[in-house]
Amino acid sequence: MNHKNKMMMLLSSAALAIFAVLQAGQVVAAGAAGADKPLMLAEVSAANIFNRNLKKQKNPNAPPWEDGIHDTTNEATFNLQPPLEAYKGLPKTSFGNHVDWVKALDQGLIKPRWDRLDSNEEPFVMDLDIVRPVKASVPDVVFPHRQHTEWLFCSNCHPAIFIPQKGANQINMSAILLGKKCGVCHGKVSFPIETKTCKKCHSKPKPADWKPPLSEATLKNPWK
Ligand code: HEC
Ligand code: HEC
Ligand code: HEC
Repeated sequence: MNHKNKMMMLLSSAALAIFAVLQAGQVVAAGAAGADKPLMLAEVSAANIFNRNLKKQKNPNAPPWEDGIHDTTNEATFNLQPPLEAYKGLPKTSFGNHVDWVKALDQGLIKPRWDRLDSNEEPFVMDLDIVRPVKASVPDVVFPHRQHTEWLFCSNCHPAIFIPQKGANQINMSAILLGKKCGVCHGKVSFPIETKTCKKCHSKPKPADWKPPLSEATLKNPWK
């Protein structure tokens, strides 16, 4: 295919995409106009569908041929060990894939290879907790370097995800839930963000004399 033809293909698929958007727009508009028609749940939550962190997994440990990730037309998929078989005997949790991986590593039940080629290579562990005080009334966040550097090298996070300087990074729950900052991994390859896990990150109780901060507007214009 020559260059010009490729361009035409691209342009026509772009036109199709715009057409699809217009179509979808009309459907929503029609739904809103018909007052007697109740809003469907799918329409209400559509904005959150992209968010993998809010999506409930039906079976987090489905065998490879049922997990929707592996190719079932490939015979080799059926030779893979199902997670539940591999996870036997590991300490449990009630979220994610139901394994406490930090405990499993601490108890020596697993020994991941640090270097793909050299099985004797030791991890470069750094024991440094970073406390992130949170303005909201939830407990403060403690980011533990030890538990992370037992699995990950510094360059997994620095500098692409986090500038290595305490307080230099703006982090908030919206970014995390959208798969940024801590959410690059949490909810994907490490424990997810759900009500059962808030306290794993928000682990430092507020100081006894903690008071919610007042906004600038409140300070200037105290409520009487
Ligand atoms: C899983 C991600 C992650 C990994 C891996 C990681 N760090 Fe960090 N690091 C952070 C975060 C998050 C902060 C806090 C940044 C902030 O508060 O804005 C931080 C902060 C730092 C700081 C600043 C400390 C201070 O008091 O200002 C240094 C230095 C640092 N890391 C070095 C390292 C080194 C060396 C390694 C490897 C041994 C490493 N980090 C591995 C996430 C990581
Ligand atoms: C993977 C770690 C992690 C988990 C799990 C987590 N948080 Fe957070 N949370 C953070 C970090 C980091 C911040 C930013 C702290 C700061 O201000 O520097 C934060 C900030 C917040 C804030 C302050 C407002 C904001 O958006 O920044 C609230 C409220 C909050 N979290 C509530 C929760 C609740 C509720 C849960 C459980 C459903 C939860 N968090 C689970 C890491 C986590
Ligand atoms: C590069 C990937 C990555 C990023 C980014 C990351 N984590 Fe983790 N985190 C992990 C892995 C892997 C584990 C260990 C497996 C698990 O517990 O699911 C872990 C474990 C933890 C633990 C559990 C420690 C324990 O003792 O059980 C906490 C707390 C935590 N992370 C907080 C955070 C916070 C807060 C951030 C953001 C400031 C963050 N993580 C960013 C990968 C990451």
